Amino acid sequence: MSAAPGPRIVLVGPPGSGKSTVAIALGERWQLAVRDTDADVESTVGKTIAEVFVEDGEPVFRALERDAVRRALDEHDGVLALGGGAVLDESTQELLGAYVAGGGMVVFLDVSLAHAAPRVGFNQARPLLLGNPRAQWQALMEARRPVYERVSTVRVLTDDRRPTDVAVVIEEEL
Ligand code: S3P
Repeated sequence: MSAAPGPRIVLVGPPGSGKSTVAIALGERWQLAVRDTDADVESTVGKTIAEVFVEDGEPVFRALERDAVRRALDEHDGVLALGGGAVLDESTQELLGAYVAGGGMVVFLDVSLAHAAPRVGFNQARPLLLGNPRAQWQALMEARRPVYERVSTVRVLTDDRRPTDVAVVIEEEL
């Protein structure tokens, strides 16, 4: 676990990789508060993410997300889960680079389409995956994989693991 200021650990990865559930499992295991930038954005604007996408557009969502990530990296000292696309933002990449340089741990939760699909359910709550969700997810993962790998310090495959098992694997990596 990081002794550096800021979150003890940051989780990144695509939708369906288990970021939120693994964050909860880690929080329980380590008795730490859990924060999720998706939930932060929703409480800031008082709307769901799907509503922000439809009513305000993706650029507005990304700006809100960037602010939520910056605040969380600054203030939160527990477990932090980032929304799946948060790492695409350059200033977020820089902040994560500084966090890692200071001793922080960023875990890339990797997952295959076969395991992500049932977890995500490919429903209205994931506006980026509407249309042909499987193809969209695959394209998104292909484009983002290099970024997830670059910003992270550890990669953990979540495919056949329960969130509590992933938490144990992460702990072993510390
Ligand atoms: C997004 C992932 C979602 C949410 C938004 C956009 C993405 O979070 O932030 O719908 O770009 O991958 P999860 O990764 O928690 O599903």
